[in-house]
Amino acid sequence: VLCVVGLNAVFDALVINKLNVLELIQKLLHKDKSLEVSPQRKGLLFRITLLMSGGASILYIRWRIMGTGPPAFTEVDNPASFADSLFVRAINYNYYYSLNAWLLLCPWWLCFDWSMGCIPLIKSVSDWRIIALAALWFCLIGLICQALCSEDSHKRRILTLGLGFLIIPFLPASNLFFRVGFVIAERVIYLPSIGYCILFTYGFSLLSKQAKKKKILAVAVLGILLINVMRCALRSSQWRSEEQLFRSALSVCPLNAKVHYNVGKNLADKGNQSAAIKYYREAVRLNPKYVHAMNNLGNILKERNELQEAEELLSLAVQIQPDFAAAWMNLGIVQNSLRRFEEAEQSYWTAIKHRKKYPDCYYNLGRLYADLNRHVDALNAWRNATVLKPEHSLAWNNMIILLDNTGNLAQAEAVGREALELIPNDHSLMFSLANVLGKSQKYKESEALFLKAIKANPNAASYHGNLAVLYHRWGNLDLAKKHYEVSLKLDPMAPGTKENYNLLRRKLEQLQKKGSA
Ligand SMILES: *[C@@H]1O[C@H](CO)[C@@H](O)[C@H](O)[C@H]1NC(C)=O
Repeated sequence: VLCVVGLNAVFDALVINKLNVLELIQKLLHKDKSLEVSPQRKGLLFRITLLMSGGASILYIRWRIMGTGPPAFTEVDNPASFADSLFVRAINYNYYYSLNAWLLLCPWWLCFDWSMGCIPLIKSVSDWRIIALAALWFCLIGLICQALCSEDSHKRRILTLGLGFLIIPFLPASNLFFRVGFVIAERVIYLPSIGYCILFTYGFSLLSKQAKKKKILAVAVLGILLINVMRCALRSSQWRSEEQLFRSALSVCPLNAKVHYNVGKNLADKGNQSAAIKYYREAVRLNPKYVHAMNNLGNILKERNELQEAEELLSLAVQIQPDFAAAWMNLGIVQNSLRRFEEAEQSYWTAIKHRKKYPDCYYNLGRLYADLNRHVDALNAWRNATVLKPEHSLAWNNMIILLDNTGNLAQAEAVGREALELIPNDHSLMFSLANVLGKSQKYKESEALFLKAIKANPNAASYHGNLAVLYHRWGNLDLAKKHYEVSLKLDPMAPGTKENYNLLRRKLEQLQKKGSA
C-alpha cells in the first residue's frame, strides 16, 4: 500500500506536473530563484503532503495491529542478510535484484517459496553468477543515464516514470532499509511490473520508428505476448491445487528443503506414507536442522512401527529446538511404545510445559498412566484433556471405559452422561455409555442407546455384538440371535461373539426340545 502511495506521488510529479528531475536537481544545486512555488506547484505540494500523511497513518495503523519491531526471521528465510561480511551481503542482495529483474523479463522460473537453500549464497567473486550483477547494473545505469541526460524531454519523462515505477515499489523488499523475511517473493514484483511494461512499450515504439522491418518486430512482440499468456494460464492452473503448486516447485528450486517438505506433507495428508517419507527424508538431508520435517517424518515412522529411527529423529528435533512441543509429545508416544515409561512421562510433561493448552498430550499422558495402572492419574489427565477440549471424544471414552473396567459403574455412567451432553452425536460415546447402562441392568435405556449408535454407525460389529449380549442377558433371545448374526456377518473373527452365539443356539435348541416334549 505504501508503494502505491509513493507511486502516486511519482506519477503526479512526472505526468501531471511534467516535472523534470535533472532540472530540479540543477536548480536545487544552484539555488535557482525560479524554484519559488508557482500556484501549479502548490497543488502538487499539497497533494504530496496529503499522500504522505495518508502513508503515515497507514504505517501507524499497521504498527497498532502488528506491534513494534520487525518479526524475527531466521537464517533459512533470508540467508544473505545473515552473512557476516558486508561484501557477501551486498553481492547477494544484488544477485537477488538481478534474479527479480530476470523474472520480470522471463517469468519462467516461478516458485511459491525461494528460501531454504533455494539460491545458494555467492561467497566469492569467482562464482560465475556474478555476471548477472554486471548485466543488471549495465542495463540499469544505461537507462538511468538516458532518463537523466537525454536531449529529448519526452523521452526523459517516460524513462523516469518507467524507472520510478520499476524501482520505488521494489525498495521496501530490497533489504536496504530493513531485513525482509524472504529471498525472492513474486508478489513484490507485481507493482514494479508496471514500470517494466512502460519501459518495454517505450522501447518497442523506439524500435518500430527506426526498424525497416516493422512486420517482423510486430510478429516478435505478438509472439512474446502469446507465450506469456500461455505461461500465465499454465501458472494459474498450477495454483489451483496444492499438489501441483508444490510439485511445480521441484524443478525450479530442487535445493529448497521447504519444497520437498510441502510435497511430502501433501502426500502424507492424502495417505501416501511411503512417498511422503521419501520427500521428508530429502528435506532433512537438504536442511539437517529442519525440525518440522523431522517431526513429521518421525511421526510417520512411528505409525509404521519403525520406532528406533522415529526416536532418533524426534530426539534430534527437540535437541535442536527445545521448545518444540509437538515433537516432545511424539517422542513421548514413541518412548511409551518402546516401554520406556519414565522417559515418556518426562517427554509428555515437557511438551505440556511448552504448550499450556495441549489436550492431545494430556490424552496420551493418560494412556501412559493407564498402562502403568495409575488409574487416578490417568483419569485426571483425561479430565484435563476434556477441560481443554470438551469435544475430545477419545479422552471421554477412555474415562468411561477405565471406570467401567475398575467397577465404578455409577461414576462411569455419570461421566458418560456428561460427555453425551457435550457431544450428543458421538456414536462411540453412546456405545460406551450403553455398555455401562447394560451392566447396571438399565436395559431399556441401554437398548435405546445401542440402537441410536447403530443407526449412526451401522457397520460396527462390536455394536451389534454388545447389543446381542444385552438382549441375551435381558432374556430377549430372538433379538439376541439376530444381532449376533449381524455382528458375525460384519466380522466373523470378533472375539467372544462366536462363543456367545453358540451358547445362545444351544439354549434355543434346549428350549425347542422342552417345548416339543
Ligand atoms: C491436570 O491439570 C492441573 C491443572 O492444570 C495440573 O495441576 C495437573 O497436574 C494435571 N494433571 C494431570 C494428571 O495431567
